[in-house]
Formats: sequence, structure tokens, C-alpha cells
Amino acid sequence: MTKSFNVPRGTSDILPDAIPLWEALESNARKICKSYGYREIRTPVYEDINLFKRSLGQTSDVVNKQLLELASSKEDEGLALRPEGTAAVVRSYLENSFDGRESLSKFFYLGPMFRGERPQKGRLRQFHQIGVEAIGPNSTSPFLDAEMMALAMHLLKELGVKGAQLKINTLGSKEDKANISAWLREEFTKHKSDLCEDCQARFERNVFRVLDCKKEQCKKLVKELIFKGGTVSLPLSNDSAQYFSKVLHCLESIGVNFVISHDLVRGLDYYTHTVFEITAEGLGSQDAVGAGGRYNGLVHELGGNEKIDYGAIGFALGMERILLASGQNEPVASGINVFVIAMKEEYQPQAFLLLQQLRKADISANMSFVSGSMKSQMGKANKANARFALILGEDEIKNQTVALKDMLASSQEVVAQANIVEAIKNRLK
Ligand code: HAM
Repeated sequence: MTKSFNVPRGTSDILPDAIPLWEALESNARKICKSYGYREIRTPVYEDINLFKRSLGQTSDVVNKQLLELASSKEDEGLALRPEGTAAVVRSYLENSFDGRESLSKFFYLGPMFRGERPQKGRLRQFHQIGVEAIGPNSTSPFLDAEMMALAMHLLKELGVKGAQLKINTLGSKEDKANISAWLREEFTKHKSDLCEDCQARFERNVFRVLDCKKEQCKKLVKELIFKGGTVSLPLSNDSAQYFSKVLHCLESIGVNFVISHDLVRGLDYYTHTVFEITAEGLGSQDAVGAGGRYNGLVHELGGNEKIDYGAIGFALGMERILLASGQNEPVASGINVFVIAMKEEYQPQAFLLLQQLRKADISANMSFVSGSMKSQMGKANKANARFALILGEDEIKNQTVALKDMLASSQEVVAQANIVEAIKNRLK
């Protein structure tokens, strides 16, 4: 027997019945992002692998374990499918000299991302994100941090996500991060061997990750050594602490609810200052429906002008998780305006002509190219969820008319073929 093929592990087909859900998600997302002044950007699905390595950090799980490399030919060497959108947006921002044109660039994107993860509910190898990024010298304002989180929460609400909870923390400036890293290493040093294998490996380059490790042994140590059983925050400079409190104040001023979560550190290296994550109900263990934060240092890291003091902040929402959390998994019945029925094979040319006239007039229409009994043709019209059936029988062909059957009202009338477009348009109003 010939081998059949299956969709690759961790990916899925989005079948026609589910497309209306995705279309609604995408068009709502576009509308809301635009209403906050963000403009859509589309970057390639693959990039130079070093763009991801440099942006996300060599110690991040995404770079370490999950990059899907393209290596089918010499030309593809050094390319990888994008695991996220931020790095590519910054690359494009610099390559297209947005920094020379405007002091704040606001982008959003929708599209597939790829990570070589172990698949489980809500965790896929190809998934889709709605991402938003604001980059430029004028981006270091606590209002912008608040705008980002407000936009993320607004999107989730409009997209029907239930029980969304915003968790927020600050990692401080680049200097704070270095100081906190040194402090964490000192605190953990005597207990290094009690940490899980991953955390021991991350100890030197990204000790922050120990704070959000999900393994019991690490969680216990973090609680005892760092948070001393309570919720002590990480040591920060005055400037960073003040910036964070302004962000919180801005959020409160526009009524965005949040909880401060001192152990929230995020898995990607590029973050500084504000970091946030949004969880939702109904997602099981993969309960983050979105996440983001500031990444002020990344623009310089990717070659930005040393004389410009860039700032940047953004977030991404997982679209599959949005659909899961909003309970919108049931396919929505889509329909068509008209189903054209030729009662005999020889009437098909005339039916085909009318079919095309309808489509050109912006009336959605379909027909079966296999002739069959009236019963089977009506069955097809019903299955297509047609609003009208347009029937061509012997009399209609002779008189240049059609029988127009209203599938909702179950009524039928005769209409001249010459007037059919107008007649249907009037009835669809
Ligand atoms: P992230 O936390 O890696 O951040 O991903 C953001 C969201 O994408 C997650 O909260 C989740 O909803 C979804 N997601 C991630 N991985 C998977 C997966 N394997 N399967 C299904 N959904 C997934 C970023 O990607 C950053 N680029 C966000 C950002 C933008 N930070 C600043 N700007």
C-alpha cells in the first residue's frame, strides 16, 4: 500500500469551517491595533539564525532547544524559522531606517511562529501570534508601558478571552540586571547543586531563569533564599524603582487591573524594566495567553546608532490560546448567497454563464458541475447553506427565465434571466 502522509507533529490544518473564526480574530485584532495608532508590518517567516541567537540570548530555551533551522541547501545554511516576531521587527526597523524618519515607530503583526517544542495542549511547533512593538527614542515613557498593557488587555477582552489576569514585574535597567544577577548568584552559590540541571546550566549566563523555574526543587529554594517566604522585590536602583511605580500609576489611572509578580522574569534575554504576562482560564498548564515587556537594549545590540538613545516595548498574544480561552472552537457555518441548479446536463452552459454573472456582481454563488436529480441538487444547495436556489429547467430555458427559490421562506418565483442580478441584490438587502 502507498504510504499516506499526516500533518507534521505539533502543527495543524486550519480547515475551511474554522476559517471564519480566524478571520474574525484577525480583523478584530487589526481594527483594535490600528485604533491605538499601530501599523501592520510583515516580515519573512525565516531570518538569519544569528539574529535570533543575538536577540533572544544563547541561554534561552527558545535558542538552545527550539530553533528550527533550514538546512536543505548551501544557500539555506544559517537560516532559521522565526520563533517570535520581535527580533525581525527590530531588524526591519533598522534596515529600513525608521529611526531616521520618526521618533516613535508603532508596529503590529499577525502570523505563524515556529518552535521545536514538545507538543501538548496549547503548545505547538507552529503557532500564530498577534504581536505589537513600539520602538524609538521617544518610547521611554511609562505611559507607553501602560498603553501596551492596556492594548493587550483590550484585545483579549474584545476577542472573548475569559479570566485574563495581568501579572507585572520589573527587571530594572541593564545595570540593575547585572547587579541583580550577581546578587542572585551569590545567594544561590552555596546551593547550586540543589538546583535542577537546566538551572545549573543557566547559572552563569542567565541566573534570572531560576526564579521562574517550574521544578519543585528550584521553586523551594527561590522561596527560601530570595523571597524569604514572602514577596520581597528584587533590589533595584532608585531610578528603575521610580519608573516602575510610574508605570503602575499610569495603569491604575486608566483602570487596568494587575498583580505585581516578583518572580516573573520571562524566558527571553532581551528584556529590561517592565515585564508582563497575561494568563487566562481554561488553558491548563500552558496558561499564558500573552506576554511582553521592555527591551531597551536590543536596538543597539542589533546595530542601532550608538548616538541614539532607543527604547522599545512590545508583547505577543498566542492566537490558538486565545481561541481556546474564549471557547471559540466550534466551527461557524458559513454560507453562500446562491446555489445554481441545472436540471439537465444540456442546461449547464447557461447555468455556468449565470453563475459567473452573479459572482462578477459580488453575489457569492456556486453550482455542482455534476448533473443530478432535483432532490440531490437541492441537497447540495442546503449543504452549501445557500440563501437562494436558482433553478434552470425546461420552461426556464425556453422563456429565458429562472425559478428563484428562497431557501428560508420556502417560496419560489419566476424571474427573467436579464433581471436576475438586480432581483437577488434587492432580496439580499
Ligand atoms: P513569548 O512569551 O515567547 O513572547 O510568546 C508570547 C505568547 O505566544 C505566549 O504567551 C503564548 O500565548 C504564545 N506561544 C508561545 N509559544 C507557543 C507555543 N509553542 N504554542 C502555542 N502558543 C505559544 C514572545 O514571543 C515575545 N516576542 C513577546 C514580545 C513582543 N516581547 C516584546 N515584544
